[in-house]
Amino acid sequence: CGIIGAVADSAIKPVLEGLSRLEYRGYDSSGISILADNEIKTRKVQGKLNQLKRLLSEQPLEGKCCIGHTRWATHGKATVSNAHPHQCGRVAVVHNGIIENYLHLKEKLLQWGHHFNSSTDSEVIPHLINHYLSQHLSEEDAIAKTILQLKGSYALGVLINGDSNNLYAIKQGSPLVISQGVNGAYLASDAMALGPDSSKIYYPKDNELIKLTSHGIKLCNPSANRKIHYINNSYCSKIVSKGEHSSFMEKEIFEQVDLLNSLSVDRHASDYSTINFNDFNKITIIACGSSYYAASVAKFWFEKYANILVEVDIASEYRYRSPVMTHKELAIFVSQSGETADTLAALKYAKANKVQTLALVNVANSSIAREAHFTFEIYAGPEIGVASTKAFTCQLAIFYKMCLEAAQQRAFIKFDELKQLQQNFLQLPYLIEKILQRCTEIKLLAIKLSRYSNILFIGRGIQTPIAHEGALKLKEISYIHAEAYAAGELKHGPIALLDEQMPVVVIAPKDSLTDKLLSNIQEVQARNAPLFIIGDASIRDYINLKEDEFFELPPAPESIQPIITVIPMQLLALYCAQTLGKNVDQPRNLAKSVTVE
Ligand code: G6P
Repeated sequence: CGIIGAVADSAIKPVLEGLSRLEYRGYDSSGISILADNEIKTRKVQGKLNQLKRLLSEQPLEGKCCIGHTRWATHGKATVSNAHPHQCGRVAVVHNGIIENYLHLKEKLLQWGHHFNSSTDSEVIPHLINHYLSQHLSEEDAIAKTILQLKGSYALGVLINGDSNNLYAIKQGSPLVISQGVNGAYLASDAMALGPDSSKIYYPKDNELIKLTSHGIKLCNPSANRKIHYINNSYCSKIVSKGEHSSFMEKEIFEQVDLLNSLSVDRHASDYSTINFNDFNKITIIACGSSYYAASVAKFWFEKYANILVEVDIASEYRYRSPVMTHKELAIFVSQSGETADTLAALKYAKANKVQTLALVNVANSSIAREAHFTFEIYAGPEIGVASTKAFTCQLAIFYKMCLEAAQQRAFIKFDELKQLQQNFLQLPYLIEKILQRCTEIKLLAIKLSRYSNILFIGRGIQTPIAHEGALKLKEISYIHAEAYAAGELKHGPIALLDEQMPVVVIAPKDSLTDKLLSNIQEVQARNAPLFIIGDASIRDYINLKEDEFFELPPAPESIQPIITVIPMQLLALYCAQTLGKNVDQPRNLAKSVTVE
């Protein structure tokens, strides 16, 4: 979910603009509340933000103090009554996070005679604040007393209908940013949501209550003896548009050539050398979703070229399985957004256990970047499409370079081999461009593939995580059921699924495992399963495939192949989703940044 708030003349404008920029955090419903004529007025809708904009054009609102919310449903279905803001009496609240003890609080409030309109956890918050206001507590004390009772995570925007136009912000565990501009004061889940008036931002600490008024911003806990230290907002006024592309995802796929070109310039070499890889005898890489598959590729590189033991963990599982941690361990946390709650919680857990931590993020100043001992940026630029593409490729690129630094420091490979591996990296922009130029060939495969309801992806070795990423991309945006396996595993179970209705997509570049993979391909053919191969030209000598069943990969050095083979995977998913008429940038049920556990 994303929250936003503004105290400004015509506060509705920055709030609606901010909601557009926050929509990647969820888009199943949205709403705003505004203080006007000593009254809180609210508009909420189910569905995408343009529905809210339509409603507001029919029933306009004006005022100086406004909050807004775009929702990714956790507690309660995506309905109008479950949409935020939630209101009770003089109080309206937007909430990002989860109140874990809401049932207990709700029961208490019901006994006090309160009535609820939603099945959300969030609604207890305005009820509690309003309850304390009715007991004549000040606004600040009512909020402070309320948050003392909340268990879980939250970032809140609280609008109170009082003597003046006041808005409050407070967080625990969930991301929140405050800004003071020339024309107003603002709060948001994310610096990217703030407009051009927000060049200076402040990241509040947990449970710092902040008051936003037309005179500026103030910290409410003076006893804490803290000051607001503003920093520059690197996202300020960066306007991201699709350009001539049909979707952000398509644009982001095609941006990858330029991004890899700029990553070829070794401006981050000094970053990597801040880590002494000889200090560690193990690396643990922790992430979710696509970032997890990037981590899984990195494991192959670190082990092969730097001879360092690597474990890869799913962030939501890591701290619940008593992992063995040592003081000679480096834990790397990979997150495009830098805000994923599971990854952040795992990072805090590792830090609390005295493990050295490194964040690999796309968003500087994100929660994960600020929490880790070391941070490397991947420099992919804002990624708007919910399904990660360019950020995944940049994660791989940075991992590759980090790994070569580790290889050099640990002197595991010979100087000439290291130089060759570095040279290989420089070929990436050219090779990726060659694939993108032939994107229409992949469209042919996609049109045929999109007729099926279930698809298997297979690859061997370092291509196995790419097969998983390919299946994930396809599921995410086309809703076709897809699963991935290490090709050698197929015969140990999944082969039972194969028939004319179960196509298999094979990632088959020329590498040391091609011969083994050919046997797996034969196993598939023998079961009459339709074959689709993204592979080296030589595969065609063994298997007869039509032009809408085979995409030829350009010859490439083995070390960089995963950064190349993922490009046809992205295009395949994009074109399948387009063929099926799906919303590529905002697939159902997903959010780009999941800030709840
Ligand atoms: C969400 C997105 C996925 C993404 C994952 C991890 O679930 O829908 O596409 O891979 O989060 O995101 P992160 O920002 O931590 O890389």
